[in-house]
Amino acid sequence: MTDTAGTTVTVAGAGLMGTGIAHVFAQAGYKTHLFDISKSALEKARDNIEKNLAGGVKRGKLDEATAQKALENISLHDGLTNAAKDAALFIETVAEKLDLKQSIICEAEKVVRPDAPLATNTSALSVTEIGTATSDPSRVIGMHFFNPVHIMKLVEIVVGISTSQETISRTRAFSDAISKSSILVNEAPGLTTSRMSAMLGNEAMWMLQEGTASAEDIDTALKLGLNHPMGPLELGDLTGWDTRLSALRYLHSTLGDKFRPCPLIIKMVAAGRFGRKVGHGVYKYENGQKVSGSGLKGSMLP
Ligand SMILES: NC(=O)c1ccc[n+]([C@@H]2O[C@H](COP(=O)([O-])OP(=O)(O)OC[C@H]3O[C@@H](n4cnc5c(N)ncnc54)[C@H](O)[C@@H]3O)[C@@H](O)[C@H]2O)c1
Repeated sequence: MTDTAGTTVTVAGAGLMGTGIAHVFAQAGYKTHLFDISKSALEKARDNIEKNLAGGVKRGKLDEATAQKALENISLHDGLTNAAKDAALFIETVAEKLDLKQSIICEAEKVVRPDAPLATNTSALSVTEIGTATSDPSRVIGMHFFNPVHIMKLVEIVVGISTSQETISRTRAFSDAISKSSILVNEAPGLTTSRMSAMLGNEAMWMLQEGTASAEDIDTALKLGLNHPMGPLELGDLTGWDTRLSALRYLHSTLGDKFRPCPLIIKMVAAGRFGRKVGHGVYKYENGQKVSGSGLKGSMLP
């Protein structure tokens, strides 16, 4: 088995995801270099990691000494070369733009360890296409984390057409070391999770539009009948129906008609009812809390 202990991990991009990814590696004992072009993003990342570690101590998930050591393991960088030098794992989590991700990975490739996986946290771009810009696409792989990274257990390890077995094994060893459960996915639109949750949310909206049941009852059915922690309509409100609609349009164009967005989603997005973030989606929200009984009723119901 690959031993990753004592090595350095570099995370490029100190936004929402990069912050969480740096947190989990630092907490697992890795020297963690966090790179961003924005100094304010780096400072915000460190503040958020400190806050989340303190929250973990308060909830009894880790002790003070581990939290302190985790903070000491993190160094902030506004230059990529210094940040990535000698890293045994490089993960990019910059904005979702192909040319940006390609240029960051190519620059890192020159300075990381020769056996380091070059990982991307992309949600929708092609790992294979990102890899074509490098001199060795066999080292390029997807590590798709979930928000909030320090809490969510899953990593989808995404395999491009050229990704080598060695890169997969090394990446898996790092994922094990941060106590995540990893699954292997051949590069495909929506991977496993986004594709499935887009399908569920869309189907729930079709049911609502057809008047099969009220929003509350559809969500209750999935929670109590199928043991989902959240209903698909509550989840759509949390994700944002605007984001959900973009994902559905992409899946529709790549995987066909079964992902045709429900017209009710299109209508809600046109009305600005994006969900929780604007206080109104399938449900209404006040002070961040769902208003009881506020869910859409379904067209056939009184
Ligand atoms: N938000 C999610 O729930 C989620 C989940 C899984 C995967 N992802 C993917 O993770 C990636 C990042 O998403 P996010 O939500 O953290 O975005 P974000 O906007 O919070 O963070 C992106 C960071 O990249 C930095 N950046 C931009 N250009 C850069 C450059 N040239 N060099 C270095 N840093 C640069 C920005 O300053 C910013 O701090 C995207 O590819 C996204 O698809 C997001």
